[in-house]
Amino acid sequence: MTHRRQFLRQSATALGALSLGPLMAHEQWLDLSYGIKDYLRKNEGGPMDETFWSQVRQAYTTSPQILNLNNGGVSPQPIPVQRAMIRFYEMCNEGPTYYMWQILDQGREPLRLRLAGLAGCDPDEIAINRNSSEALETVIFGLPLKAGDEVVLARQDYPNMINAWKQREKRDGIVLKWINLELPSQDEDYLFNSYAKAFTSKTRLVQITHVINWNGQVLPARRIADAAHQQGIEVLIDAAHSFAHLEYRIPDLGADYYGTSLHKWLCAPFGSGMLWIKKDKISGIWPLMAAPQPDSDDIRKFESLGTRSLPIEHAIGEAIDFEEMIGSSRKSKRLWHLKDYWTSRALQIPGVSIGSPLDPGWSGAIALLQMEGKSPSQVAEFLFSRYRIHTVAIEWENIKGVRITPHVYTSLKDLDLLVNAIREFATH
Ligand SMILES: Cc1ncc(COP(=O)(O)O)c(C=O)c1O
Repeated sequence: MTHRRQFLRQSATALGALSLGPLMAHEQWLDLSYGIKDYLRKNEGGPMDETFWSQVRQAYTTSPQILNLNNGGVSPQPIPVQRAMIRFYEMCNEGPTYYMWQILDQGREPLRLRLAGLAGCDPDEIAINRNSSEALETVIFGLPLKAGDEVVLARQDYPNMINAWKQREKRDGIVLKWINLELPSQDEDYLFNSYAKAFTSKTRLVQITHVINWNGQVLPARRIADAAHQQGIEVLIDAAHSFAHLEYRIPDLGADYYGTSLHKWLCAPFGSGMLWIKKDKISGIWPLMAAPQPDSDDIRKFESLGTRSLPIEHAIGEAIDFEEMIGSSRKSKRLWHLKDYWTSRALQIPGVSIGSPLDPGWSGAIALLQMEGKSPSQVAEFLFSRYRIHTVAIEWENIKGVRITPHVYTSLKDLDLLVNAIREFATH
């Protein structure tokens, strides 16, 4: 047995890219996680340490059919998270009301503590829910605004949020003040001023998308938030793409309200999310789903969602374990490195440009590929039909290109294939 374990540990390190994914039994996973932890005790596991990252890849069930470079849509879960979800699901089916409401429901408070630890905030400021849309719309619809109050937002924000604000505009007569950002940009003054110039004495709130999903642009959220507060304006941050991707603590952003999805960069089960509200602002937001004391300052009033998937919620804990095992800072640097690896090579191909900022601090893993004389859908279609590389064509407001998003399990070999495919299409 010991020999077998030793062999598995060694092979997990040595085999690198070969995925044990779908076959991996619980014992194999324990061996792999032991191997990863042991490796990190002896090595730094830096962004260019392929031996380390190939072990991380083993924890994912990567497809042999396609190369998934659309992790910017939603992330896959590592095996321990998938397993936990299935285990809890099966358990709940043995007696739903007992296992869901008497057993798993007990896990929400410990989970809140763990999320707060990861996010660097007070657990009493975190509500656990299903996604960013739910978190952000809780704030958008829960804020007591009146006709004539102004909200500043960008044309490059996410459609769900834009639609929610438009609904309030129609229903309540609030006024939307639109910013149209010219992206990509690494000019902090330009980005800051685009927001600051739109503030008036009637502005009640500014919405800032921390990482713009269309091209991965990072916005100077803290600077905008500080300027807003100086004028008594509240700040809502859409962090769907920044949590567990960039390295920061939620309070660092200086927001009043913040929402994210845990099924994106944290790799928690599909349909898991988080709302953060600054303690002294909680009582002022009406919950979207009514609670017994809707005006209380208890963040749990936002968790009256009716019957929800407790297996999904409970397996978030496994995703936190996995994140902590890799280390958020190490992960964030690797993600940036992956983007840098392929973009620096693709930029050497004539006619290729990147519609995203490239420097650390302004970007993470997401980048937008642009090819002269070719539409985004033509490029995405070529990548998929010839190489089975799954990406997404983006045409939104003034942003056009093919969004390429690697993740921690993406190998450099995968990215070499991408660059070769781009080269082939460029000379087509
Ligand atoms: C910037 C941004 N905000 C909000 C969302 C909504 O996330 P969800 O579908 O998980 O609610 C997304 C989804 O991609 C996004 O990119």
